[in-house]
Amino acid sequence: MVTSFAGVRYASKNRLPGRTFAGARQQRRTLTTLPSHYVLPSGDQIPAVALGCWRSARDDVGEAVKTALKAGYRHIDGAWIYGNEGEVGQALKYSGVPRREVWLTSKLWNAHKTPEDVEPALNDTLSKLGTDYLDLYLIHWPVAKKDGQPYDKTLTADPYPTWQKLEEMVAKGKVRNIGVSNFNIPKLDNLIANPLKIKPAVNQVELNFWLPQPELLEYAKRNSILLEAYSPLGSEGKVKETLALPEVQAIAHEMGMTRAQVIISWHIQRGTVVLPKSVTPARVVENLQVRALPPALFDKLEAAARAHPPSRGLNPSTNWLDYDMFA
Ligand code: A2P
Repeated sequence: MVTSFAGVRYASKNRLPGRTFAGARQQRRTLTTLPSHYVLPSGDQIPAVALGCWRSARDDVGEAVKTALKAGYRHIDGAWIYGNEGEVGQALKYSGVPRREVWLTSKLWNAHKTPEDVEPALNDTLSKLGTDYLDLYLIHWPVAKKDGQPYDKTLTADPYPTWQKLEEMVAKGKVRNIGVSNFNIPKLDNLIANPLKIKPAVNQVELNFWLPQPELLEYAKRNSILLEAYSPLGSEGKVKETLALPEVQAIAHEMGMTRAQVIISWHIQRGTVVLPKSVTPARVVENLQVRALPPALFDKLEAAARAHPPSRGLNPSTNWLDYDMFA
């Protein structure tokens, strides 16, 4: 079943009818079940939960992918720079799950954004993953910079030439959907101001209790861009703190869920894809077991996330640029 929710179409295999109400701050739908998929402008259905592969060691990622596919995941989120696409590809092959049943995302690295570098970089990713197409290919960062060189100011300021190459990859059938990652509102506006043939379908960004980014979420819904939440549990440094939050503990107790499940469910209920990373088999399985939170509990967690000053876990601006890309 496909339904419409604040600009993003949701698809759920077994959705029950929900009740819509206008809240003081935003319009929300009371979800009785969480969507299993979202529908992108291309019509493709992207699964709401993915196994995140960032920071998964090569020795561990294969087992994590095999466990995930066995548990029912059908969405693997990776990137060329993670250095583990070969192991992911091997695990996919070993799993025996047909390619067409698995959603594969990868990301174009900063050093490969000059238009002539895009297709070779994509080909490398495809060959490592053992496939001839990606479901989603994202510009990894709003930065164009080759190793050992200063950043490319023109291409960083406006990645349209890179984007045109990505559109060409869609036309060639090597990629089904294209999007961006780590783009803030001005950078999205800047890209969209170009005469795009294909608009960005997705923006993958840091989203968690410490950085809930409500303005970006509203902007994305208004513009039919699906947000994907990386570091959804707070990433390595803050997972413990996230799971120790009194609101999270109370909801977990009331719902009979684990604390990680509460957080992952909250993300989907906000209307984003969620990419929990784990290489621990029991956690990989646990993280797929999501459930809609009753509105009062969802609101409580949402309010707590918005009540403190936002705190970003990952900002590599100074490694590459002479300004803060998120300012
Ligand atoms: P590990 O990979 O060792 O299982 P995020 O997705 O926010 O980046 O967080 C990833 C971190 O959270 C990793 O250190 C991962 O550990 C840990 N993690 C993933 N799932 C769970 C879970 N269900 N409970 C506790 N920690 C988890």
